[in-house]
Amino acid sequence: QREYHIVVLGAGGVGKSCLTGIHPSVFPAALLRMKGILRPNSDTDQFTAQFVQNVWIESYDPTIEDSYRKQIEVDGRQCILEILDTAGTEQFTAMRELYMKQGQGFLLVFSITSMSSLNELSELREQIIRIKDDEKVPLVIVGNKSDLEEDRAVPRARAFGLSQNWGNAPYYETSARRRANVNEVFVDLCRQIIRK
Ligand code: GTP
Ligand code: MG
Repeated sequence: QREYHIVVLGAGGVGKSCLTGIHPSVFPAALLRMKGILRPNSDTDQFTAQFVQNVWIESYDPTIEDSYRKQIEVDGRQCILEILDTAGTEQFTAMRELYMKQGQGFLLVFSITSMSSLNELSELREQIIRIKDDEKVPLVIVGNKSDLEEDRAVPRARAFGLSQNWGNAPYYETSARRRANVNEVFVDLCRQIIRK
């Protein structure tokens, strides 16, 4: 069984937490359950909970980052993803450098309703490449909120253009709200890491 470190990056409010974890507006019942279940573990000072499907919260600390464990099947092989959901608003910090170093695969998320969120991705990618010293680091471009087609501000062609500039990085449009294409994104990223 393999374990991979995934880091989710992107501007504030694009839907990173909704894609990776459970968000109150998407799964209110799950959140309530989580709140009821989550108890500080006196031994490790960590919170542990299981909720829907294979999603696990291993540690929970709202002031820094959230980390999730999720098991998925990729080409008949079980993979455990250790997913780090980062804060979109934070500056470039030593912390960020550390998790970019440790990350093996990256989700670069923007919202199709915000052109500026797309524009923020290039700098993130440059940081990743610099820190990992690897031009071919596994990554996926994710245009989230595809259910908000009427509010689209980023034409598909624009996102594909970015993908081409990055050597044909995979581009997916997802809706965390509708759970559309969410699994596909993680499977693609996992496959890239395995093939590396
Ligand atoms: P930060 O943690 O601040 O960086 O934001 P984030 O990227 O984690 O965004 P979050 O997941 O908290 O979502 C921000 C808002 O967008 C919330 O109000 C969500 O309900 C909404 N949202 C997230 N994903 C979707 C989606 O696919 N469709 C729609 N319509 N709304 C979404
Ligand atoms: Mg978040």
